[in-house]
Amino acid sequence: MKILLGVGGGIAAYKAAELARLLMQQGHEVQVIMTRAAEEFVRPLTFAALTGRKALTDLFAIESAIEHISVAQDHDLLVIAPATADLMAKLAHGLADDFLTTLYLAFTGPVAIAPAMNVNMWQHAATQANLETLRRRGHRIVEPDSGYLACGMTGPGRLAAPEEIAEAIASETRKRRDLEDETILITAGPTQEPIDPVRFLSNRSSGKMGYALAEAAAARGARVVLISGPVNLAPPRGVETVPVRTAIEMRDKVFERLAPATIVVKAAAVADFHVANAPGQKIKKTAARISLELDPTPDILAELGRKKGDRLLIGFAAETQNLQQEARRKLESKNCDMVVGNLVGGADSGFESDYNQVTLALSSGENIPLPLAGKREVADRIFDEALKLRLALHGQQITLLTDGLKS
Ligand code: C5P
Repeated sequence: MKILLGVGGGIAAYKAAELARLLMQQGHEVQVIMTRAAEEFVRPLTFAALTGRKALTDLFAIESAIEHISVAQDHDLLVIAPATADLMAKLAHGLADDFLTTLYLAFTGPVAIAPAMNVNMWQHAATQANLETLRRRGHRIVEPDSGYLACGMTGPGRLAAPEEIAEAIASETRKRRDLEDETILITAGPTQEPIDPVRFLSNRSSGKMGYALAEAAAARGARVVLISGPVNLAPPRGVETVPVRTAIEMRDKVFERLAPATIVVKAAAVADFHVANAPGQKIKKTAARISLELDPTPDILAELGRKKGDRLLIGFAAETQNLQQEARRKLESKNCDMVVGNLVGGADSGFESDYNQVTLALSSGENIPLPLAGKREVADRIFDEALKLRLALHGQQITLLTDGLKS
């Protein structure tokens, strides 16, 4: 593979030399691009010796005015290590004042970023906001390690080990087009159940998890249909987004679009009740108590479980307690292949948050707890495990077939 290695100007720049050597050893072609600050820490000659290619440095000292475009088009992956606080800010905001940042904007392939800096700089709200922007853009973030830093402080900020960055690059390329043969139907967001023409019952789902799943699936080559309740999110690029409002509308659209789907992911927080006989006119304010009569909505996931055929069916379980037991109970009662359980109600995970901490209950009997991570990263892990699970289920079918032949 042809890899671009962008080196930022931090003390960890010397470790990028080890990363370049490792990538060369793994059989990749490596083209290094250094920022001006990086040149203060390591000489371009070091990288030229390791990669057999002259390191690119100054935007204006190159042979052609459009070299950053041709270099971008000619490579498969861009990894930036170390990414300093300054470099992350430039990438997040689209500043392009040197070769690396200009090339970043021209590059359309997968990007991995390994930050390294002083612990206070890393934890600063500005850096964390930039990190979030880059994560949501779908870039793979290789988090810094905790430990003793060059500045004499201890904490998170040390560049991840070159072996870990190389492994992240390998997994990024492995998964790049692995959903190309799939049609994936995803539901997201809350539903709104009218009380009258101006009021409704709903819940706190933001739709972020479902949208992250749609973005991840599209980036990995799937055809994606996203059936979305009302949310404040832009429709993801390369995804067919179908807006709906109520649980009944969502059910109808799901079954209308089910036929070509190979994987169905029900990330929507569907309302469990709707108002029976909601009036056509606004209910007038009175001093007296009024009550609403609620009917259960159709359980879309349970119906899918009955009609799924050989599709992979993934449900969600948003719980405030007993996560693992509830996820497994839903897996069985709704005939799912996977249920993604997440605790809601906490501040840094679940509804509205950009992060999520989930446990996957699989029909193979396995439970896989995932670490707290950005929703896009969680989305990728869900698809990773879904593909593994299908392979395992498929493998089982083949064994059964051969057993049948033998007898
Ligand atoms: O039964 P419960 O609502 O806890 O299960 C959550 C899962 O079921 C989610 O995947 C959600 O999308 C789905 N669901 C559904 N239809 C409903 C209620 C929930 O498809 N009416």
